[in-house]
Amino acid sequence: MTDDGGDSDRPGSATDWIDPLERNWLRFSIALLVVFSLAVGITGFVLGFQVPGEHDRVDPNTVADSGPFSEPGIQKIGSGEYEVYMLAKQFFFEPREITVPQGATVTFHVTSTDVQHGLKIQDTNVNMQIVPGHVSTLTATFDEAGEYPFICHEFCGLAHAGMFGTLTVEPEGE
Ligand code: CUA
Repeated sequence: MTDDGGDSDRPGSATDWIDPLERNWLRFSIALLVVFSLAVGITGFVLGFQVPGEHDRVDPNTVADSGPFSEPGIQKIGSGEYEVYMLAKQFFFEPREITVPQGATVTFHVTSTDVQHGLKIQDTNVNMQIVPGHVSTLTATFDEAGEYPFICHEFCGLAHAGMFGTLTVEPEGE
């Protein structure tokens, strides 16, 4: 580790002064950097993962007064495609009951009017932080009929445990 390369009795290449163990850690660190850069690049540019931008900003004090969040609920926007605008507030979701047909693709837009909440819909990829001032958006497809309970998973106050709801997927042909 402290070999400064000054030993004239140690011939070798210019990098011989690096301890082999240290050299391997350097290689490992560089490999990690490459892996992480690739992971960020692929998720960001190929898969389209993005951090929230300006367009997702809202004023938590007025977001429920006008626009889509003034009438929270579900809307059909195409064949088998739905959009849900949902408010999270102490201590409930609005709406807290959602019904969609089997096979529906649902995009959830969720925001908070007070403190930070969370939304996790069981057995789906929907698991997000609901931060006041931001709109969190995720899309899920419901291929299996049944009930999908959802909960607030961020401690938001005394009645946090009572903050839940149900998404029902109705079987096809009904
Ligand atoms: Cu909302 Cu916990």
